[in-house]
Formats: sequence, C-alpha cells, structure tokens
Amino acid sequence: MKQYLKYIKPYLVSFVVGPLLMIVEVLGEVLMPYFMSLIINEGVANRNVSYIVGIGLTMVLTAFIMMAGGIGGAYFGAKGAISFAADVRRDVFLKIQKFSFANIDKFSTGSLVTRLTNDITQMQNLVNMALRMMLRAPGMLIGAIIMAFGMNPRLALVILVVGPLLALAIFCIVRVAFPRFDIMQKKLDFVNSGIQEALTNVRVIKSFVRGNYEEEKFSRANDDLKEASLNAFRVMILMMPVMTLAMNLTVLAVVWFGGKQVIAGEMLVGDLTAFITYITQILMSLMMLSMVLLQSSRAIASARRVQEVLNETIDLTDDQARYKNLEVRRGKIEFKNVSFRYYKDNHEKVLENISFVANPGEIVGIIGSTGCGKTSLVQMIPRLYDADEGEVLVDDVNVREYSLYHLRNGVGMVLQKNVLFSGTIEENLLWGDEKASEDVLSAAARAAQAEDFINSFIDGYDTELGQGGVNVSGGQKQRLCIARALLKKPKILILDDSTSAVDTATESRIRESFSTSLKDTTKVIIAQRITSVMDADRILVMDEGKIVGEGKHMELLKSCEAYQEIYYSQMDKEAS
Ligand code: CTP
Ligand code: MG
Repeated sequence: MKQYLKYIKPYLVSFVVGPLLMIVEVLGEVLMPYFMSLIINEGVANRNVSYIVGIGLTMVLTAFIMMAGGIGGAYFGAKGAISFAADVRRDVFLKIQKFSFANIDKFSTGSLVTRLTNDITQMQNLVNMALRMMLRAPGMLIGAIIMAFGMNPRLALVILVVGPLLALAIFCIVRVAFPRFDIMQKKLDFVNSGIQEALTNVRVIKSFVRGNYEEEKFSRANDDLKEASLNAFRVMILMMPVMTLAMNLTVLAVVWFGGKQVIAGEMLVGDLTAFITYITQILMSLMMLSMVLLQSSRAIASARRVQEVLNETIDLTDDQARYKNLEVRRGKIEFKNVSFRYYKDNHEKVLENISFVANPGEIVGIIGSTGCGKTSLVQMIPRLYDADEGEVLVDDVNVREYSLYHLRNGVGMVLQKNVLFSGTIEENLLWGDEKASEDVLSAAARAAQAEDFINSFIDGYDTELGQGGVNVSGGQKQRLCIARALLKKPKILILDDSTSAVDTATESRIRESFSTSLKDTTKVIIAQRITSVMDADRILVMDEGKIVGEGKHMELLKSCEAYQEIYYSQMDKEAS
C-alpha cells in the first residue's frame, strides 16, 4: 500500500488541512452540550435572562464557526480524494497502454475496466471518508468521554459497560461483512467482463441468433452479483438498528441512574441533558469508526486489484535495447532457429525452428493451413511477442536491441483483425503519419485501391467512421487499413491476410501498385489464396509451426508437396 503515498504527496495541503478543519467542527460539537447545560443550570434555574442571551450568542457564534469548519473540511476532503483518484487512474491507464499483448491476455478487458472505474472509485470513497472522519471520529469520542467523566464520573461508568459491548458487536459485523464484499467485487468483475464482451460483439451475437443465450448468461452473472451484494448488505443492515438499540438502552440507563441522582440533589438537570448528548456522541463516533473500517475493507481489496495492474511486469521492454536510436533502414529480415509458444508451461510450440532470410525490397509470401502459425510468425518482427528461442534480426540487428519505438515505426503491420477508430477517414489515415499532406494521403489511398470508393462517399475523406469502422464494407475497411500502414512509409510492410475480403482483380491492382510505389520496402504477405503470393520473390510454406517449403512459385510447385496440395485444391475449385 506504500506505493500509494506518492499520490497523496501533491495534495498534502488538502490531506492536512481537511482533517484539521474537521477538528474545529468536533470542538464545537463537544462544547455545544456544555453551553446548553450552563443555560439550564445557571440561566433558567436563576431566571437570569442576560446570562441566557450571553451564552446563547456564544452558541450562535460557535455554530457558525462549526459550519465554516465543516464546509472547509468537506471541501478539502473531496478535493484530496478526487485528485488522488484521478492520478491513480491516469497511471493505471498509462500502464495498460504499455502492456504487451501477453500482458493483456492475462487480464481480461472487462476486469481492466472494473479496476479503472469501480475499484478506483472505492479507493476514492475511502480517502474522502478518511479525510473527513480520521480525526473527527476519534476526536469526538475522546472529547465526549472527557466531558462526560468531567461532569459526572459515576454516571460515566455506564460508558464503560456499553462501549466495549458495542465495539464487540461492530467488530463481529465487520468481520462477517469483510469477505462478503470481496466476493461481491469479484462478481462485479464477472458482470463487467460479460457486458464488455457482449457489447463489442453484439453483431456476431445477433447474426448467430445467440441473443437468448447471452441474455441468460448475463442474467446468471447479474443474479450472482445481486446475491453476493445482498449477502454483504444483509450484514450491513444490522449495523444501524443495533446501534440505535444500543443508543436507546444507554440513554434509558443514563436517565434512570441520572434521574435518581437529580432527585437526590446530586446532579443538576442541565448536566443530565448534556450527559445524554455526550453518550449519543460517543456511540455516534463508534459508528463512524466502524463505517470507515468497513469502507476500508472494500477499498483495500480494490487497492490490491489496482496494484496488480500497476505492478504487473511488462514482458516486452526496451531493457535490452543496445541501440536506442537505431532506426530500421533497409528492411532485411532474418529468423534464426526461432521457436515460440503462447503459454510457457508445457504447451506445444506454436513455432518451431523457423529460419529464413528476406532481403530488402523483396516480396515474401507466407501460405499454409489455418492455425499453422503464420500470424504468430510475423508478430515476432515488430515484437508484439518475443521469441522464446532463437533470434529475430532486422537489418542484421536483434529486434530486442532496437527501441520498441523505432522498431515499430519501421514496421508497418496490417493485423488480421484490424480496426479503425471513430473519427473521419482522414483522421484514421493520419494515424500512419500525422503530418501527411493531402497529396501524400491520396497517394497512399490510391496505392491501396481505396481512393475510388472514398471519393464515391458524399463527404469523401471527411466521412465519419463508426467505432471500429462499422459503416464501411469488410473489403473497404481492409483497404483503409492498408493505406494507413502505407502512410508510415515503413521499411517492412506486413499484410496479415489483409486482402481476404477484397476481390481478386482489386487485389492484383494493389500488388501492382506496391511494386512501383513500395519498391524498397520489404513486403511480407500472408494469404490464403495462392494467387496472392504467386509472384512473390520468396514463398514460405508453413505447416504446424514449421516451414516445410521455401522458394519461388514454380520451384515449389515441382518440389513441395504441401504447396502442390494447396495449389491443386484451389485450382480445382476455380475450375469447377
Ligand atoms: N494461438 C494461441 N494463442 C493466441 C493466438 C494463437 O494459443 N493468442 C495458437 C492457435 O490456437 C494456433 C496457433 O497458436 O494453434 C497458431 O496461431 P496463428 O499464428 O494465429 O495461426 P495462423 O496461421 O495465423 O492461422 P489463420 O490462417 O487462421 O490466421
Ligand atoms: Mg492468422
């Protein structure tokens, strides 16, 4: 928890002044009953009006000072808590941005959202509560006890009986509630993950008519959360009535014993009324303390979950970067005996002993059955994942020795499942190069065969895209993604099945434009269709994580069985 101290530091003023101002309010609260007793004992008993007015005015003044203290305390409390939470949120967000794919795989997106929102809110609530109650509750407790004992030590003994009993009751309630809130938070995580997945994939759900299934899944998670919450709050609802009961019984006891003393002339009536107020204050402060305790149990669970994110070791870093300023210049790619698995504990290798060289400017085609490891292979180049064994070299330098920034800047990648962002087409393309002029923009669009359809939209480049690019067709989206990658003017361009939704004629035009506009760029093209890679300078044929053939189209057709198989199956289909 120590690591959160640094978030308090910038707001130290709020964290100190807030509680101090609350002390002002407490002092008033403790003095008020005393003033009251003076009015009754001295003023009323002796019919001394000027005395009553004097004390009365003092009370009015005290009330205003109390209000000022209360307002100030609440203000600084809120300010401190809100600023604290905002800073934590910012850091958690920045950390998540640095996450590697492997890190993200570990936490679910839903869980990350819960941590960023609900968990941090819990922490904010605790800080806010602590700032207001931290000094106030103990201050009130101690102040009231001192006043009560000072007034009538014998009667104050009642507190010694009730106080510990009540403390015990509160302790039991909080202890039972503690773990229940923990469970509640986990269920909330589950509901959020469900919402996240269902909302991002609402189209798929609808097309598979899985709406009912999803609804059921959601209501189950939601019911679970409801049960868990009820379970926790069922204990909590005991708190107030138990407190009230204790309060009433205590007041009764005080009136009973105190009344006797008043009748016997051992106690003044004003003291009795003040005494009752002090007893109430003592119980109130115990209740406040228990509330803080309870909130802290929830917040500590949340703080731990936030800490998990903050302390996650990012497994892809610049630590080994020996050449921090080196940029990718030529675009040579070399794999030396690379092996890789996604799950490090006794899972099968996804890539095994991959070795090949691609020279600058070459077109490298990669082909192979689905799941054979094509995407995994190319992800090693911009270090989306790191190889477990062997080396991946770009321009004869191990990719780990580049800074991630320069390496990824030199490698343009159109992912298999790529997305566009909400905003205009132009804004999306500018991701590739913020400073691109209109000419450069349209040249890239032209090369990706996207210019025609962009211009066919009424708003052209200013057409607004929905989130994820929902309002363009699959093939149009792919072409926009290619144009975006082209604008980076990468030395290495990777297209992972990026023309699968584009018709063959358009696709061959894209290939043609590459051979003129991207002459020096090394192009790695993953494809399902042999026609997409037929002209490549080098074709890698993959099967179950291994390269089983390498060469030009005609060579492979003669020598590589796996390639022949793919070729003839596709030719047959075309012929029939
Ligand atoms: N895989 C995995 N975890 C991931 C991604 C993939 O375990 N996060 C596994 C897949 O189950 C698959 C293997 O890794 O068995 C190779 O996946 P991939 O490289 O994505 O296969 P591709 O050849 O790209 O398949 P496709 O043609 O379908 O894109
Ligand atoms: Mg793939």
